[in-house]
Amino acid sequence: MEWKLAPSDKSPAAPAWYEAGLSHIWLPYAQMKTARPPLPVARTQGCRIVLADGRELIDGIASWWTACHGYNHPHIRAAVEHQLAVMPHVMLGGLVHEQALTLARRLAALMPGDLDRMFFSDSGSVAVEVAMKMAVQYWLNRGIRGRTKFIAFAGGYHGDTTGAMAVCDPQSGMHALFHGLLPKHHLLDLPRDEASAAALSALLERHAEEITAIIVEPLVQGAGGMRFHDAEVLRRLRAAADRYELLLIFDEIFTGFGRTGAMFASETANVVPDIVTLSKALTGGTLPLAATIARRKVFEAFWSDDPAHALMHGPTYMGNALACAAANASLDLFEREPRLKQVAHIAATLTCGLAPCRSLPGVKDVRVQGAVGVVELDRIDDPGGLRARFVAEGVFIRPFGSIVYLTPAFTIDDDELEKLTQAVVTVLAERCPR
Ligand SMILES: Cc1ncc(COP(=O)(O)O)c(C=O)c1O
Repeated sequence: MEWKLAPSDKSPAAPAWYEAGLSHIWLPYAQMKTARPPLPVARTQGCRIVLADGRELIDGIASWWTACHGYNHPHIRAAVEHQLAVMPHVMLGGLVHEQALTLARRLAALMPGDLDRMFFSDSGSVAVEVAMKMAVQYWLNRGIRGRTKFIAFAGGYHGDTTGAMAVCDPQSGMHALFHGLLPKHHLLDLPRDEASAAALSALLERHAEEITAIIVEPLVQGAGGMRFHDAEVLRRLRAAADRYELLLIFDEIFTGFGRTGAMFASETANVVPDIVTLSKALTGGTLPLAATIARRKVFEAFWSDDPAHALMHGPTYMGNALACAAANASLDLFEREPRLKQVAHIAATLTCGLAPCRSLPGVKDVRVQGAVGVVELDRIDDPGGLRARFVAEGVFIRPFGSIVYLTPAFTIDDDELEKLTQAVVTVLAERCPR
């Protein structure tokens, strides 16, 4: 079962490691038999991906929204190199180190309200698993049993591990297959209007006593289709959680670190959730790291003389020193460089640059929030073909579902950004001729 490389994929410049290794790798979200072979990358620099054959692509996705300062930022690189010489990793079971404690302190200072206790892990999905366990055990430690259900929302995405999958949208998410395996939670429409707000209230009236927490991606539901909602929705969720004494979890794995225009979406909404999850841009796209952040009242439920009240979770690589050094360096850059101004500028440029798509047949919506620009189509039949067409235009853009979207690095320059928006307009115009 080998990937059949078409002659066009067999560039004479393809490195030996490419063909030799392809038949041993299993790639994400891909039907390995029919997917187009992946592009071999030789290196990255700034907002560019350099392919093994020398072609340079302007990156419209920032490696799944992580590389917010562009690739290979010298400040992050220097911090990681320094840390590598000092200590790449030491376990947090009984030990601790400067980078993890410094990062915990700095994140606490950035968070709203009393969200000041960090539990580090190594991926977004695991951060969500930890948030869910934390929420369930919060009630148990307080002597309240039976609260094991979550309220989650249509269009939501929280990760691919089993617990996280169970709070994803089962339809638009990628997890319909695993129905039998997953515990059932309550899936609702976001309370955007009176009818959906009433549905939430009705559910809470009937079932509040079995519910542990509400989990939501604030302002932008990313992997579920880059769908936006406004701050009022989040204020309604806070009010509902307060009224029925539930915990409110903001999954800011996508929205955190400036992506939607403010450092965190919770700031825009002026809402303090009880638990926050972060990952993606936490290390500026260099190393895997995630954090689950708890408010004081959550942490206090675990503070006890009873060992059984401890949070029983501990990923081997939690608080990895290299990753924490990268995250501290990334926070330096947010302090020293005008990232949020850059995001505002990107928002304005995306709004103008994608506007011509509005009049194309087959385009349902064009929307921008911070450094997220989306063109939603009626449907996309061949996302792989569309991706290849973008590559021919010199850009890396990865359509999914029915959307083509841009989430570039915040450091992208005007020419590069124009090239990205122009490529979207050109390729969609030829795909949807008038
Ligand atoms: C909002 C949100 N939560 C959780 C995750 C899962 O993160 P990871 O892929 O690092 O496990 C993602 C990933 O796209 C995400 O966007």
